[in-house]
Amino acid sequence: MVTKDVIAAILERRCIRSFKDDPVPRATVGRLIDAARWAPTAGNLQPWQFYVVYDDKKKREIAQAAYNQRFVGYAPVVIIVCTQPEISAAKYGERGTNLYAIQDSAAAAQNIMLAACGYGLGTCWVGAFNENMLIEALNLPPGVLPVVIIPVGYPDEENKAPARRPVEEIVHIIE
Ligand SMILES: Cc1cc2nc3c(=O)[nH]c(=O)nc-3n(C[C@H](O)[C@H](O)[C@H](O)COP(=O)(O)O)c2cc1C
Repeated sequence: MVTKDVIAAILERRCIRSFKDDPVPRATVGRLIDAARWAPTAGNLQPWQFYVVYDDKKKREIAQAAYNQRFVGYAPVVIIVCTQPEISAAKYGERGTNLYAIQDSAAAAQNIMLAACGYGLGTCWVGAFNENMLIEALNLPPGVLPVVIIPVGYPDEENKAPARRPVEEIVHIIE
């Protein structure tokens, strides 16, 4: 399996909202989850759960929970990165709940997206969703909260890179 250089993946990754019907091999999905669980976490607590959805009906429910972003339902597989804030809170209190638990999940999500890009797959970070609807659709246990929905599939569109703010506007060098 050929993968891209990490810098190429960072630069070439685009949010993809249209997918081919071709299934994503389960072994590849496994590698995406592996990439996720090797993300850094505060205190190495790994306060996360990953839901991997192949079922069409469930994917449509997830798309509905994402304010009817229908492309989510048409991806061959949808991964939901969830956090367990209580795990972080036990060691880090409020900072664990409000910041670390979310940061850990975000790092995992980015790893999934970059790894997917390396395998020639398209993804999109979907953060707009009704939390309660998604919890219900996935039947999440208490203490497990969804952070990011990631539809995954082979891209059926080529997106131009949206502009980034210029370096001069965002970088502050102190020397
Ligand atoms: C926190 C967050 C929430 C986002 N939510 C959505 C979303 O709900 N739906 C969507 O289509 N894209 C969503 N995006 C994707 C952004 O629109 C996209 O990353 C941005 O336009 C830059 O494009 P690129 O990822 O192709 O570089 C989200 C991205 C982030 C980081």
